[in-house]
Amino acid sequence: MLLLPFQLLAVLFPGGDSEDAFQGPTSFHVNQISSFANSTWARNQGSGWLDDLQIHGWDSDSGTAIFLKPWSKGNSSDEEIAEVVEIFRVYFFGFTQEVERRASEFQLEYPLEIQVIAGCELRAGGSIGSFLRGAIGGLDFLSFGKDTCVPSPEGGSRAQHVCALIMQYQAVIDTVNMLLFDNFPRYLLGVLDAGKAELQRQVKPEAWLSRGPSPGPGRLLLVCHVSGFYPKPVRVRWMRGEQEQPGTQHSDLLPNADWTWYLRATLDVAAGEAAGLSCRVTHSSLEGRDIILLWGHPISIGLIFLAIIVPSLIVLLCLALWYIRRRSYQDIP
Ligand SMILES: *[C@@H]1O[C@H](CO)[C@@H](O)[C@H](O)[C@H]1NC(C)=O
Ligand SMILES: *[C@@H]1O[C@H](CO)[C@@H](O)[C@H](O)[C@H]1NC(C)=O
Repeated sequence: MLLLPFQLLAVLFPGGDSEDAFQGPTSFHVNQISSFANSTWARNQGSGWLDDLQIHGWDSDSGTAIFLKPWSKGNSSDEEIAEVVEIFRVYFFGFTQEVERRASEFQLEYPLEIQVIAGCELRAGGSIGSFLRGAIGGLDFLSFGKDTCVPSPEGGSRAQHVCALIMQYQAVIDTVNMLLFDNFPRYLLGVLDAGKAELQRQVKPEAWLSRGPSPGPGRLLLVCHVSGFYPKPVRVRWMRGEQEQPGTQHSDLLPNADWTWYLRATLDVAAGEAAGLSCRVTHSSLEGRDIILLWGHPISIGLIFLAIIVPSLIVLLCLALWYIRRRSYQDIP
């Protein structure tokens, strides 16, 4: 029985223990954002994620889960899904009530924002680790381990009181244990397998160059845009020949709506030094054939030569011919 997860991992990671071969997400978590405007107004938002890809929503009016992908249920049976959805429905209802009822006891002040993140992740060596963390107003408040509630230092005595209170409810502890250490890990393996075709797909980036706002007199901001790639890991560098330019700045990785990513790499250079620089993009979908875009291609110098020098030479030649012919007419006695 204990070996089972490892066998499943071998299926998920063909190629044995080389984890580099696996592209795509390795964790599942559910996210709760609860906003309390005052003692009578509260709203809960729920969602489910594989790393930073959203696969579940939550309709808090009807208390139902929204499956955003055809494979979002993983391989779980409808009964198991219904059971977990019911746990969340009861939880959101009870949570809102408890917070409103105990706000003054715990000196919570409105408006109040509470976030909870709970899930599990594949770890090196094939084990699965689970986590649950709660925050109030953006500050860590508490976390859960097996059978324990751990108050965060930032949470102060309030967090200690809340943990002490939760620990009195064995049914709550049992439910948290079941979700974190049984349902979620099984679901993670099932959903990574069910969504494999999409989660492990390879989409090639497109790349283009532009000029950013000038950083100062005589300087240029070279911008290399890389968009539409999947999975997320990517390497974008400004180079001179084979030499990586150390001043390269990267934007955050921004999501496109179609589950692909966008990244920008900029380089601030003296205007005279831009020619000959190139942007180099390395991504698993390119299979070793990096995209290389040249800034101010040397070919344009050739074009300038052709466009200016050649017509000038032709004009000069014509003038010379005309002059010679005039001279020779005048020379005729
Ligand atoms: C509570 O907050 C909601 C939303 O901001 C607001 O519409 C409502 O009037 C407030 N109620 C009270 C009693 O302050
Ligand atoms: C779903 O897959 C997981 C792991 O891949 C496995 O442990 C579980 O038994 C499967 N469940 C069903 C209903 O097939």
